Amino acid sequence: MTAVRPEYDWAGYGFDTRQVHVGEYADRNHGVRVPPLALSAGYVFEDFDDCVERFQGRPARGSMDAPDLFPQEPPSAIYSRQGNPTNSVAEQRLASLEGGAEAVAVSSGQAAISSALFTLAQSGDHIVSTASIYGGTRILFGRSFKRFGIDVDYVWDANDDAEWEAMIRPNTKAIYTETIPNPRNDVTDLHRFASIAAKYNLPLVVDNTVGTPALIRPIEHGANIVVHSTTKFLTGHGTAVGGAIVDGGTFDWSAAESVGRSYPLLSKAPRAGARSILERFGPEHAYARAAREQVVNDIGPALSPFSGFLLQQGMETLSLRMERHVASSQRIAAWLETQPEVESVGYAGLPSSPLFDLAVRDYGLDASGTYANTGSVFSVTVRGGIEGARAFTNGLRVFSRMTGIGDTRSMIIHPGTSTHASFAPEINERLGITPGLLRLSVGIENVEDLIADLRSGLDQVAAL
Ligand SMILES: Cc1ncc(COP(=O)(O)O)c(C=O)c1O
Repeated sequence: MTAVRPEYDWAGYGFDTRQVHVGEYADRNHGVRVPPLALSAGYVFEDFDDCVERFQGRPARGSMDAPDLFPQEPPSAIYSRQGNPTNSVAEQRLASLEGGAEAVAVSSGQAAISSALFTLAQSGDHIVSTASIYGGTRILFGRSFKRFGIDVDYVWDANDDAEWEAMIRPNTKAIYTETIPNPRNDVTDLHRFASIAAKYNLPLVVDNTVGTPALIRPIEHGANIVVHSTTKFLTGHGTAVGGAIVDGGTFDWSAAESVGRSYPLLSKAPRAGARSILERFGPEHAYARAAREQVVNDIGPALSPFSGFLLQQGMETLSLRMERHVASSQRIAAWLETQPEVESVGYAGLPSSPLFDLAVRDYGLDASGTYANTGSVFSVTVRGGIEGARAFTNGLRVFSRMTGIGDTRSMIIHPGTSTHASFAPEINERLGITPGLLRLSVGIENVEDLIADLRSGLDQVAAL
C-alpha cells in the first residue's frame, strides 16, 4: 500500500465524519474546501518517466511506494476512462464507508454489476444468484450474460443449503445476492451465503444499493465484493446515474486457484516474464485493479466526473437522510398494515414479517425497539388486483409515479406492468409479483403528508 499523508488518514473516525471527509485533499493553488470538480479527460505527464510510470504501473525512477505518491491521486491517472481525481474522492469515501480496500466508480449500477462479474467470470463460466434480485439485473443475466456465454442459475429458497450446494459447479465463479431486494424488502441472510461461498472458495458479491453502508456493511457480514447503483441513496437526490464496485480485499484468490477455481484476469501474467495483477498489487487490491484496468478500462463505462462530484456531495449526508428515510418507512409500513384496503405489506422491519428476526439481527432496531431498520423500499399490496393498483397509484400526488428508488422524493411503481413485465407469469408468481403489488420508495418529505397522500390513494381503492 502507498502511504497516506496523516492529514488524509480517516481510519478510526466515525461513519458520519468519514462520509464528509474521506478522500478530500488540499488544493494548493486556491485552498478551496470542497474537493474540486476535475472536468478533464486526460492528465499531463510531468516528463517522459512520469508517463512510463503511469502507463506501466512500475517505477521508472524510485519506488512506487515513495512517500510522494498518495492514494488521493487516482491509481495510474492517465485518462478519465480509467480514473479521475473527482471520482477518486467518491471512490475512497465509499470504500471507507463500506469497510473495503478500494472502490471503482463506474457509469451506472448495471455497469457496476456487469464489470464486477466480468472481472470474475468469462465465457463458459457460471454464477449462482439468489432469485429475488432487482428486475434489471435478472434481465442483464438472462440476456447479455447469456449472449456472452456466462450462465446464471437462481436459488429460490435461499435458506436451503442443499439447493445452494446443488447449484455450485466447478466452473462457478461467484455467488451473487442483494442486501434488501426490491420490491418486497425480503432481506437476505448474508452470513449463510458467506459461509457457503467460503466453503467453495467463491467470492460473495452483494448489491448493497437498497441497504447502503449507513444501514448494513456486507463486508462485515462476510461479503467479498459490494456493488452499488450510486444513482440511488448514495448520490441521493435523483440527479445522476452512477455505480461503484467495492473490493473488500478479503478474498483469498490463491486458495481458490489451489482448488482449481481460476480467476485468470487476476492470476495470469499478461505475457511471459510479466507479473500478474495479483503479484503486482497483492490480494487486498488485485480485484479492484483488475476491474479498473482490465474490465472498466477496456469496455469503457467511465463515470462522468460531474456525476462523481454529485456522488461525493450526496454521500456527505447519507446517514442523516437514511435516518429519515427509515423512520418514515417504519411509520408508513405499520400504518399501511392497519388500512382496510391493504392486503399485505412487504417490509422485513415489521414485527409481523417472517423475516423480522433476521432483520433485527442484521439491521438493528429503531429507537423505540419496535421495528427493524430495513430501509425505505418496500411493497404494499392493495385490494382489487390491477384495478386496485391503478386507482391507488392515480390517487397520489406527493408520491411520484416513476421508475427509480432512493432519492429524496417518494416514488411508486407497479412492478407487474413495468420492471417485471418482461418476465414469464410463472416467474413473477414465484417472485411474489402479484397484480395488486406496488413498490414504494419513501422519501424525506413530512411523514404526515406522505400518510395523507397514501390515504387519498386508498380512498380511490375503497371507491372501486
Ligand atoms: C438494486 C439495484 N441494483 C442495480 C440497479 C441498476 O442501477 P442503475 O439504474 O444505476 O444502472 C438498480 C436500479 O434500480 C437497483 O435497484
